[in-house]
Amino acid sequence: MAKERLDKIIASAGLSTRSEVKLLIKKGLVSVNGRVVSDPALKFDCEADEIMIDSRPLRKGKFVYIMLNKPKGVVSATNDSKDVTVIDILPEDFKKKNLFPAGRLDKDTTGFCLITDDGEFAHNILSPAHHVSKTYIAQLDKPVDFSVAVQAFKEGVVLGDGTVLLSADLELVENTLTPTYKVVINEGKYHQVRRMFATLGSTVKELKRIKIGGLVLDSSLKEGEARLLTEEELFKITESDVK
Ligand code: URA
Repeated sequence: MAKERLDKIIASAGLSTRSEVKLLIKKGLVSVNGRVVSDPALKFDCEADEIMIDSRPLRKGKFVYIMLNKPKGVVSATNDSKDVTVIDILPEDFKKKNLFPAGRLDKDTTGFCLITDDGEFAHNILSPAHHVSKTYIAQLDKPVDFSVAVQAFKEGVVLGDGTVLLSADLELVENTLTPTYKVVINEGKYHQVRRMFATLGSTVKELKRIKIGGLVLDSSLKEGEARLLTEEELFKITESDVK
């Protein structure tokens, strides 16, 4: 295969702009065939040469990974006969064939929705076996008994239909009459967070996903806004979650 500039090869993996790539190279995070490369203009063969970013191999596919800050009222589906979908609201530049949301957020849940055309990646981050956590901020109609809730979440909540959930973490964020909690879960069952709090007698009024794995929702994205993930950010999703 013909040789191309290093920054072009990395950028055309679809995950970073050329200027972001230049920064990665400047930070000494890019190596080719085992040697750190500091010149973005050097040419390589993306098939034959082993390009590593922060010690991880560059993805060679042309998949797309989009972070959307989902607003309320939009469904996480590819198409829907009556509701607006997360695909409908993407900027035209990002729309391409086969995009789908990796995991579901309820119509009224806001926050981090990951949209991709990479089925294998989506499967990996959704499968409980891969331990990619999802972090939510939940505001309730009334407080739960905090120590009882922490213990129940840790042990694995048993839902009304008998489903036994994996262990989850609970933190108090704001202690008011309608308190706010941070919840970290390790799977994605239907209405999971709402149903977990329902077992404790409280109703979730507002729910926002703020993090997938180790990647936090970009706070500069307003609701309804989306952007491509960088290569580094993509790795953060599957990295173990450093709190
Ligand atoms: N848990 C829920 O109850 N709803 C969501 O949208 C996501 C997780």
